Amino acid sequence: ELRGVVALDGPSGTGKSSAARRLAASLGARYLDTGAMYRAVTLAVLRAGVDPTDAEGVAAVARAAGLAQGDDPEHSTTTLAGVDVGADIRGPEVTCAVSPVSAVPSVRELLVAHQRAIIAAALEQAGGIVVEGRDIGTVVVPDAALKVYLTADAEARAQRRAKQDSDSGRAATVDATLADVRRRDAYDSTRAVSPLRPAEDAVELDTTSLDLAGTLAALLELVERRG
Ligand code: C5P
Repeated sequence: ELRGVVALDGPSGTGKSSAARRLAASLGARYLDTGAMYRAVTLAVLRAGVDPTDAEGVAAVARAAGLAQGDDPEHSTTTLAGVDVGADIRGPEVTCAVSPVSAVPSVRELLVAHQRAIIAAALEQAGGIVVEGRDIGTVVVPDAALKVYLTADAEARAQRRAKQDSDSGRAATVDATLADVRRRDAYDSTRAVSPLRPAEDAVELDTTSLDLAGTLAALLELVERRG
């Protein structure tokens, strides 16, 4: 059983989500997908017809969106005003617009507060939680028991993303996905507020040549040693 927080950060396509979910399930811990929260706000912004680069408009939508994020590793749910948006937030429109939305400081403030409340409740009720994102070890839970920063070569990440997309019935080529992965990495790592970067005390794990089972085994070993 996990007591405390495991913070899992890194760019997309490193196998972070699948590994985080499996890790939480095998530890009997809760699971929080913070990327889903930024995606849900982005969906609300697009549905409201607000320009994703209009910081004030985006902030207003975020405050009114009625976002809720579940923390069950087996049935992770994302809802807007009570309606499940789990599938819609994975579409290309949202993926395209999520970086500017998540660069808006008041959106981050709102979601970080929300994330900390979910984490506090999980620590009280379940004893532990695996939290996945870009700024978990640096901003959301800087005192996490274990911080892992996942990396992988851009080509490997693009291949994983393209496969995920085609498995879920969304058209995707590796080239287009590679371009998208590089664009989002650049945007997320250079934004002014909470840029994507490893915490100083994070353990770096390169998943380029690891499959899901290998990544999970490496994470479980780290939890055993440091968690
Ligand atoms: O993890 P996922 O690819 O679903 O995240 C989507 C986007 O949400 C990222 O590209 C990033 O812009 C943003 N994000 C963030 N901070 C987090 C999690 C996600 O800025 N903690």
